[in-house]
Amino acid sequence: MLIHSHMDKSNIVTCTAPVNIAVIKYWGKRNEELILPINSSLSVTLHQDQLKTTTTVATSRSFQEDRIWLNGKEEDINHPRIQSCLREIRRLARKRRSDGDPGFDLTSLSHKVHICSVNNFPTAAGLASSAAGFACLVYTLAQVFGIEGELSGIARQGSGSACRSMYGGFVQWIMGQKDDGKDSLAQQVEPETHWPELRILVLVASAERKPIGSTSGMQTSVQTSCLLKHRAESVVPGRMVEMTEAVQRKDFAAFAELTMKDSNQFHATCLDTYPPIFYLNNVSQQVISLVHRYNRHHGETRAAYTFDAGPNAVIFILQQHVPEFVQAVQHFFPPESNGGQFIKGLPVNHAALSEEL
Ligand code: ADP
Ligand code: DP6
Ligand code: CO
Repeated sequence: MLIHSHMDKSNIVTCTAPVNIAVIKYWGKRNEELILPINSSLSVTLHQDQLKTTTTVATSRSFQEDRIWLNGKEEDINHPRIQSCLREIRRLARKRRSDGDPGFDLTSLSHKVHICSVNNFPTAAGLASSAAGFACLVYTLAQVFGIEGELSGIARQGSGSACRSMYGGFVQWIMGQKDDGKDSLAQQVEPETHWPELRILVLVASAERKPIGSTSGMQTSVQTSCLLKHRAESVVPGRMVEMTEAVQRKDFAAFAELTMKDSNQFHATCLDTYPPIFYLNNVSQQVISLVHRYNRHHGETRAAYTFDAGPNAVIFILQQHVPEFVQAVQHFFPPESNGGQFIKGLPVNHAALSEEL
C-alpha cells in the first residue's frame, strides 16, 4: 500500500480509494452487526483513477458534533455502520495514546469530525460504492488520528466488501471462524503488478439506484435460499482455491470461466431468494450472450463478465483483445441506442489507497 502522509495546520486530510470487483462473490452474513460473511470472497481492486471515492475529514476544536456529507448531501451520522467505523478508529487512537506514543497529537481525540465524501461514479448502482466509500472513510479517519497497520477489520464493519478495497491487486477476504470477527480480514493474494495485461471494462447499463440494497438483499437470501447455503458451504471453498491458483498462474481461461460461473451462481441465488431479487436486466443478459458468442467465435475464452448487485457489467479481458471486444460491444450496442450510457474505462488494477496531496 502506498501511503503519503500529509496534514495541514487546520487538520484536514483528503484521501481516495478505488472500488473492487469480486470474482468470487460475498453474499450473506452470519453476523449482521460485526459484518461476518458466510463465505470467503476474492476480488480485483480497480485503478483509483477510474472509479473512486474521495473523502475529506476535518477536525476542529470548534466543531460541536460529528457530521457527514455524501455526494453533497448531509447524511445521518448516527448510521450504525458509520458509528462502528468512528468508534473503532477512536478506540485504536486511544490505545495508541495509552501506549504512550510520543508523536501522537493528544488534542485531536476529543475533537469532532466533519466528513465529506464524493463518489465519481453512480452510488448504490451495483458498482461497489459501499466498498470504495467505507474503505476511504476508514483510511482517511486513520490518517487523521495517526493510526497505521491492519485496518481491513474496521472497513469490514462499514461494508463487508470495503475490507477488500484496503489493498490493491488481487485480494481475498478470509471469512474467519471466530465469533468476535478478529480473523475476518482482507489479505492481498497478488500485488497490482502481478498481471499487467489484465484489463477491466465497465459497461454501465443503468446508473440508477438499485431497488434492493445489498444489505437487505443478502439478508432475505440467507433467510430463504437453500441454494445460497449450498453455495457457501460446498461450492465457494473449492472455488477460492481454484481462483487463487488461476490468478497465481495468470491462467486467463480458468480465471474467466470461474468468474462467470460465480457471477451466474450469485444471481441464481438471488432468483432462489423468496421473494426473488432481480439485479440483472435485459441489457445485462444481452452482454452475457455477447461475451459467450464472442468467446465461441474465437474458439477460446477471451472475455469474462461479472455483475454485482446491479445490472452493470464488469468485463475482464487481456489487453491485446480490448480493441476487438470494444468494437463488438459498439456493434451490438450502438451509442444512439443506449443514450450514450456505456462507458469504457480501461483501468489496470492498482494500489489501493492514497492520500491526496
Ligand atoms: P453498491 O453496489 O454501490 O455498493 P450498496 O447497496 O452496497 O451499493 O451500498 C450503497 C450504500 O453505501 C449507500 O446508500 C451509502 O449508504 C453507502 N455509501 C456509498 N458511497 C459511500 C461513501 N462515499 N461514503 C460513505 N458511505 C457510502
Ligand atoms: C454482490 O459489501 O455492499 O457486491 O456488507 O451489507 O455492506 P454490506 O454489503 P456489500 O455487498 C457486496 C455484494 C456483492 C459481492 C461482493 O462484492 O463480494
Ligand atoms: Co456494496
